[in-house]
Amino acid sequence: MNAEALRALEVECAQRHAEFCKAGLALDLTRGKPAADQLDLASHLDGALQGDYRSEDGTDTRNYGGLRGIVEARRLGAALLGAPLAQVMAGGNSSLTLMYLFVETAHLFGLGDQGPWRDDAAGAPKVLCPVPGYDRHFAICEQLGIEMVNVPMLATGPDMDAVEAAVRDDPSIRAIWCVPKYSNPTGCVYDEATVARFAGLPKLAAPGFRILWDNAYAVHDLEPDPPHLAELFSLAKQAGTEDGVVMFGSTSKVTFAGAGVAFMAASTPVLGAFEQRLGALMIGPDKVNQLRHAKLFPDMEALTSHMRRHAAIIQPKFEAVQEALEAGLAGTGFATWTRPRGGYFVSVDTLPGLAREVIRLAADAGVKLTPAGATFPYGRDPEDRNIRLAPTFPPLADVRRAMEVFINCVRLASARASLQENS
Ligand SMILES: Cc1ncc(COP(=O)(O)O)c(C=O)c1O
Repeated sequence: MNAEALRALEVECAQRHAEFCKAGLALDLTRGKPAADQLDLASHLDGALQGDYRSEDGTDTRNYGGLRGIVEARRLGAALLGAPLAQVMAGGNSSLTLMYLFVETAHLFGLGDQGPWRDDAAGAPKVLCPVPGYDRHFAICEQLGIEMVNVPMLATGPDMDAVEAAVRDDPSIRAIWCVPKYSNPTGCVYDEATVARFAGLPKLAAPGFRILWDNAYAVHDLEPDPPHLAELFSLAKQAGTEDGVVMFGSTSKVTFAGAGVAFMAASTPVLGAFEQRLGALMIGPDKVNQLRHAKLFPDMEALTSHMRRHAAIIQPKFEAVQEALEAGLAGTGFATWTRPRGGYFVSVDTLPGLAREVIRLAADAGVKLTPAGATFPYGRDPEDRNIRLAPTFPPLADVRRAMEVFINCVRLASARASLQENS
């Protein structure tokens, strides 16, 4: 765009922006959570038990005990995570809690024959973080004082050349965070070659290295013919690296976000060591809720058809985001963005140095966006360009309106920055 065209664009966008600012909007694209009509899809959880609290092996789920969870819930977790039933635990309502506890246990207490990370002779522990990524993973490391090291995300998954080189060169790297399907926030699904390289990764790393495989969006497909994620557990078994794989997932965005069931899968010794620590914290999980979930989803078919109903609600919102991005930014060179086939987010990269400014402009116009830097460890996006959009929670009309404002903010900030650069 030449200077004259940029000046005209700046004037036009500034005028629109002033109008948006006067309109008194109060819109929010920050919340990666299900909308109320999605939660309604699982309202028959209420009453699913009809007074029968016995699990299939006769356990009275109302009572204490059963740290590993009831078998029918674990079966659901096994199907969701692609792991053998014997190696799956069904827990409380949050997989994030299991992740926190796992990392904390590895760091402070050690797992099985592996001593605590904090005492490791190789030095202060580090964790690899594919970026952009999930802020709450980063918060776990930050809170525990574990250093984070960025590795770039590609369209195929994390840059495996960088990952392999890092673990080979530095024995103080103890783990890597992964969201292998519909990654938060890019929506990337790790391709087969990437998953195969992950299966071999623990062999290149120092002993006790863990792949933290957070499959939070395992069944959250937007399309009827979804992409396939290769099964890491079976590949790791073949490679003899099972101890290096720890999987997490939950029904948070399947049933009730605040009252779902979380799952974890690991090798027999690793799960056993983790369970020992868990035993000091609780006598057993909420097995009543586990049983309700197992009744709702007796098999994968029931789960898949439930998720199709979620897709019918949120797919139009994702489409609205794509339409707005295409109509307002395609061909401008002002931004690139992802087109996820599932999950909860769309990731937008502005021109370098503009994410913070776009978010500030949007806030002035009454549209809340996830803070700049949130998708990077320590809240620091080195290029200040990544913005995470979360379209599931607001009604469709609000998503459309918020996107009009957002697009205008990107165009305005980009026009101003380009003019300044040219001056
Ligand atoms: C990648 C990822 N993992 C985990 C969670 C939270 O999971 P849970 O509700 O099971 O704690 C989220 C929620 O946004 C997420 O995006």
